[in-house]
Amino acid sequence: MNKIGIIGAMELEVEQLKNQMSVTEIVKKASLDFYTGTLNDADVVVVRSGVGKVNAALCVQILADVFHVTHIINTGVAGSLNPALDIGDILVSTDALHHDMDATIFGYRPGEVPQMGLREFQADPDMAAIAVRSCQEANPDIHVRTGRVVSGDQFVSSKELKQHLIEEFGGDCVEMEGASIAHGAYLNSIPFVIIRAISDKADDSAEMDYPTFERAAAKHSANLVAHMITQLT
Ligand code: ADE
Repeated sequence: MNKIGIIGAMELEVEQLKNQMSVTEIVKKASLDFYTGTLNDADVVVVRSGVGKVNAALCVQILADVFHVTHIINTGVAGSLNPALDIGDILVSTDALHHDMDATIFGYRPGEVPQMGLREFQADPDMAAIAVRSCQEANPDIHVRTGRVVSGDQFVSSKELKQHLIEEFGGDCVEMEGASIAHGAYLNSIPFVIIRAISDKADDSAEMDYPTFERAAAKHSANLVAHMITQLT
């Protein structure tokens, strides 16, 4: 039987899912509220992790150890790096990496986690395919594409850093949790996918665009999650 862990960093990224689900129990752990129950007849645990990679990684470990989830979905917003991704579009992850991991002084590649031999954490291809298909069915007006999520503990709002993330890492979007969720899911052998709607372009306009578009973008992503979970096998 599937049990799907759904993580959003901020309340506005999960509030709609919490409202739509039928809640069995709210379990408190590590100062987080884990909402267990069903959403569109699927068993789910929905949680707001808090912002940043440490919060998100902790959350994954609790979903694995306490709730024994079989799948993990990260829903939320992101800044676009790929010019083909406009505000409101949706990115479904192929993989994710930490753009702020740097042990290059010892010969590792930028982003490579030392002694793991890994830079990219691969999303589950079946979950990604289901997400893309669901989006086309549920939201035909919303442009969806697959690509690479790059994550770090910083909000990106400069042309220079944006360019670096494109050139060095081939990122399609940037946010602050996906790679640590991917990393934690990998260590626990749990299939995952990251779904992010674009709230800004991670450049000098991000400061203005983000507060304007974050709510609508978060809703796009949550709508897709609610639709796709019924199709997970
Ligand atoms: N989440 C949404 N937009 C972002 C940005 N520009 N940088 C990091 N995280 C984000």
